[in-house]
Parts: sequence; structure tokens; C-alpha cells
Amino acid sequence: MKYSEKISERMWNQSDKGELEAERENTFIDDIVQKAHIERELLQSLDGIETAFDGGAGCGRFSILLAKQGVKVTHFDISQPMIDKAKELAEREGVIDRITFVKGALEDLSAYADRSFDLVMSFDSPISYTYPDQEKVIGELVRIAKKRIMISVSSRLGALPYMANPVQKNQFILDQDSKDPWVQWCISAREQMIENFSFNKENVLKAYESGLLSDPDEAKEAYDRGETPWSISYHFMPDELENILKKNDVKNIRLAGPGAYARTIPNEILVKIVKDPAQRKDFLEFCHQYDSNPYVCGMGKDNLFAKGEV
Ligand SMILES: C[S@@+](CC[C@H](N)C(=O)[O-])C[C@H]1O[C@@H](n2cnc3c(N)ncnc32)[C@H](O)[C@@H]1O
Repeated sequence: MKYSEKISERMWNQSDKGELEAERENTFIDDIVQKAHIERELLQSLDGIETAFDGGAGCGRFSILLAKQGVKVTHFDISQPMIDKAKELAEREGVIDRITFVKGALEDLSAYADRSFDLVMSFDSPISYTYPDQEKVIGELVRIAKKRIMISVSSRLGALPYMANPVQKNQFILDQDSKDPWVQWCISAREQMIENFSFNKENVLKAYESGLLSDPDEAKEAYDRGETPWSISYHFMPDELENILKKNDVKNIRLAGPGAYARTIPNEILVKIVKDPAQRKDFLEFCHQYDSNPYVCGMGKDNLFAKGEV
């Protein structure tokens, strides 16, 4: 097993992961925008789709959505706590019979024959966590797709502003009183983060060129010390992702940058919009339209989205 896979497995197998990830859309506005964008795309693309593979399906945000639409879904993930949470939610939604749960790593999809699933999807960066195999993994996901592929990966242009803004996540906190430990950490560490920050051009350029925002060797060393470092994540450029898909014969490729519009708006205004159901609905609809413009796809807040026909 490669180091990146081991690191990812340890990180995502922390016992509270499933619970916390299932609450993200009640916690952070950027997650609401991103997941709403993907949901809209999926619901518009179900024509002729009877089977789907969800790689890195997490707590079932999209596998359960598709099962509720009558699709038979294979829910595939490296993390048992995420799968357990997804099972609980699928049971509650009455769709557990339409979902096959598989614990596995995207680095090995050899169990699946070519063109096994009408739709293959993988959202919110599982592909990026397979560094340095991300390109091979995309090829494998295309191989097992019969009609359509939809993915979202870490975005290089979208992530680089983090390196000049250590408090960017604070912009998206939905409820300052949330019990989520990440929210409370963002709030309590804010002043210190600003105080300690200095812009490091060398590091930003290195990330711009390599697609890695952290040092893989440091993650390996931390892993060997028994710690749980954040997964190594490869950040794609839009043209790079498009070319990989083209090389794998994917047609009608469309890219988008969920979160590009929302990231320009301050927290107080975002909270106001999102807490009012009518404004929230209109806002999410417009975000989808703006973020689907190919000229902003690189500025997706967390992810670069791509879809195409096989
Ligand atoms: C941010 S969550 C996204 C979950 C879901 N796709 C969604 O959009 O809500 C990332 C998921 O990828 C899974 N993952 C990470 N590395 C993986 C790998 N190498 N193979 C399979 N799953 C992986 C994690 O366990 C986690 O459930």
C-alpha cells in the first residue's frame, strides 16, 4: 500500500469522521454551495442512468440521493465510519436495499469490469487523495463507466488563495455557536492565525507549480510517528483535468467551479442569505449558473467539477 493511501485511510477512519462529515452542510456555507451545485448537476443528468458507482462516497450525500431516484448504487469508500454513517442514513431514507456498500481504495478498481456502471461519480476530492496515482485513478473510473462520468477534485487555482488567507474558512461559518470542533477552532484561533501569518512567495510558487499545498515527506514522517496527518491532496489545474479526461476519450467535457461566486461575499451577508429560505433558493440557483461559467471554473472554492460522456 502506498503512503498516501495509508495516510488517507488513517485520517478518514477516525471514529468521529462519519458523524462530523454528515453535518458539514449544517456547519459551513461553502459546503452548502458545493453540494447544491453537484446535486443540481446530478439530478439533471439521470436520463438513461440505472446503475451508478460512487467512489469515495462518504456518508452517502450523493449515493443516497441517487438511490432515492431509483438508481442502483455501489457506494465505495476507504473509511468504515463513513460507510457506517451512510448505512444509517440510507436505512432512515428507506433506500438501503438499492445500495451496495463496499470498503475499498480507489487505487484498486480491478474488481470491476469495463463499462460496469451507467454513471461513475466521485465528489469532493477522493481522487485528489490518491496522489501520486490520481491520473491512473481517473483512467480507471472512466474505464468502468458506460455512459457518463462526473467528478470533483481539489482545485489548484481555487486553493492557492488559502495560502494568503489562513482564516478563509471563517467566511463560511453558518452558526458561530455550532458545537462542531472545526467551527470552534476557526473562531478561537482567528486572531492568532492573523498575528502569525506572513506571505511566503516561495511556498506559494512551489504549490502553484507542484499542485501540492503541503509537503508529502512531512506527512509521511508524521504518519510514522503515529500521528494522523491530513491526506496528501493533489490539486488540479482546469486544463490539466480536461486533458486527462480527453486522453481517456471522454466527450462533451464541461468544467465548473462550485463556490467561485460565494467566495466573493462576506460572512455576514452569506449568513443572511442562507438563513432566509427564499433568498437561499435563488442564491444557490444563481451560484450554479455563475459557477458553471468556464471562465471561473478554476476559482471553485474547494473543488474543480467536471462531467463528460463516455
Ligand atoms: C470529503 S469526503 C466526500 C464524500 C462524498 N463524496 C461527498 O461529496 O459528500 C471524501 C471521502 O473520500 C474518501 N476517500 C479518501 N481517500 C480515498 C481513497 N483512496 N479511496 C476511496 N475513498 C477515499 C474518504 O473516506 C471520504 O469519505
